[in-house]
Amino acid sequence: MKIRIFQTPGRAARALAREIARAASRNPRVVLGLPTGRTSIPVYRELVALSRADAIDFSRATTFNLDEFLGLSAEDPRSYHAFMRRHLFDHVNLSPRRTHLLNGAARDVAAECRRFERAIARAGGIDLMVLGLGRNGHIGFNEPDRSLVSHTHRMRLRASTRHANAFLFGSMSAVPREALSMGMGTILQARRIILLVTGRSKARAVERVLSGRMTTRVPASFLQLHRDVEVWLDAAAALLISSS
Ligand code: GLP
Repeated sequence: MKIRIFQTPGRAARALAREIARAASRNPRVVLGLPTGRTSIPVYRELVALSRADAIDFSRATTFNLDEFLGLSAEDPRSYHAFMRRHLFDHVNLSPRRTHLLNGAARDVAAECRRFERAIARAGGIDLMVLGLGRNGHIGFNEPDRSLVSHTHRMRLRASTRHANAFLFGSMSAVPREALSMGMGTILQARRIILLVTGRSKARAVERVLSGRMTTRVPASFLQLHRDVEVWLDAAAALLISSS
């Protein structure tokens, strides 16, 4: 895995936004996989700035988000749908027809997961998947477990993940206990992957992802199987790897 270390989270976010802009200018029909979470907010801020400066054109791009909370409708202000509108979709020229998120309020959850997989396939697969990392090593909502699921699926969230998402809900107890997420196979089928990790609180998780071992207890460790994956870190997240 290629590793890039930036001095600050801001520099990493700027570089990633520019990388996404480059991907969109090389291929205007680029298909992006997108994360939510606090790490992604500065990246979206930079993308909005590039868009306002006419330095990026999303008009023909397609996006697929990694995950959504179960039970929340697209209109719910705490949903990842709302997160994406707030931080990106309302400010750039992405076509709403080409922004895809899982419907957390779907009546038939299994059918919704199948619909999402079909939509990705119809779009020709994901060209560039941007990922964040959970403190427990999760990507999307693929939580550490005895086994991992390949396709888009329903998932029970760990307490630490609900805690990390409490900022959207006001308190941990209000965070849904389940979510829908792309599976590990869905993620690994992307042609290119960039995992962005910032902050000291993720340093231990980064060390485990890059340890050379693969375990379902650290779902992101399976990224090591991918032939085009980069791990972008700020200095704080790289603390335990650069000193070893
Ligand atoms: C959530 C999301 C993940 C994200 C992770 C990290 O659980 N489902 O896709 O990568 O949080 O979030 P943060 O960037 O807020 O640490």
